[in-house]
Amino acid sequence: MRLKLRNIFLVYFVVSSVGLLYAVLQLGQQCDCSHQMKSLGMGRPKEQNPGHAKGPREKHVVDQLPVIYLVTPTYARPHQRAELIRMSQTLLLVPDLHWILVEDSAERSPLVADLLAQSGLHYTHLNVLTPPPMKLKEGDPNWLKPRGVEQRNEGLRWLRVNQSPMDRGVVYFADDDNTYSVNLFKEMRYTQKVSVWPVGLVGGLKYERPLVDKGHVVGFHTAWKTHRPFPIDMAGFAVSLSLLLMHPEARFDPNTERGFLESSLLTHLVSMEELEPRADNCTKIWVWHTRTEKPKLKQEEALEKLGRGSDPNILVYLSHDYQHIVKAF
Ligand SMILES: *[C@@H]1O[C@H](CO)[C@@H](O)[C@H](O)[C@H]1NC(C)=O
Repeated sequence: MRLKLRNIFLVYFVVSSVGLLYAVLQLGQQCDCSHQMKSLGMGRPKEQNPGHAKGPREKHVVDQLPVIYLVTPTYARPHQRAELIRMSQTLLLVPDLHWILVEDSAERSPLVADLLAQSGLHYTHLNVLTPPPMKLKEGDPNWLKPRGVEQRNEGLRWLRVNQSPMDRGVVYFADDDNTYSVNLFKEMRYTQKVSVWPVGLVGGLKYERPLVDKGHVVGFHTAWKTHRPFPIDMAGFAVSLSLLLMHPEARFDPNTERGFLESSLLTHLVSMEELEPRADNCTKIWVWHTRTEKPKLKQEEALEKLGRGSDPNILVYLSHDYQHIVKAF
């Protein structure tokens, strides 16, 4: 009789342990809910912060990974859709990433919103129109005025409104026309203040890079305006979120001299000695300044006159304003 009781107790113990284990495992899974979060409005262009929604916050606490906030300015052009698709599918390979896409437009375009909603990424969709006097005109060389300044500042503004210094993260200004290796994101994730690395195919050189001695940045390999405080391309650095939040005055200056845009932000945040070299002491290139060739669309108008124009219902651009966009190009 005593033996029997003991057996019953043993079975009871084993069954309840298994039950408890199962419950714990289920709890763990519930936190990995980025897809459900999105359908709950995670990605909607609202001022309420998706990053403050309960799900991802819990998720990050569990994962203990600092979030990579990618601020990407973008503007309407024939290959915009192709660029954003290419970029978003690279970003899918990066865990704990939040894409802040900022359109240079008076309104958020529905087609960009659709692209984001279908991307599978955590994102925030913003927009701000560059004031006309600051905008490049048709025929202007693209170096004449800095592009994307207002949009990057809008991304910074959003982060300051919606994140707190308690949030661990890093901010990277990633244009939609560069090529990114997933290795780059591994390098930047644990940034204390500002991390730096080489950028390929930029500044008229094979690469630009910070020069590193004994683990510290001591200068820069660059050929152009070498007297800049930080002769670093936009793609060549990332800033810790908390450092940005501690310096609310730090932003990109739209009126700064050509080539000084990056410096206009960084001088608020660090000194050269404090820069954190990444990518094997700045010897590896994980990001390239690739520029997509402007598509030639001359034949479209010709065919249209013959009544044989391309089907406007086939989605190529992120704008239905087809004539306008082709002519503006
Ligand atoms: C960078 O250089 C420092 C000092 O020379 C060295 O200790 C360190 O191992 C190097 N790091 C990498 C990743 O190569």
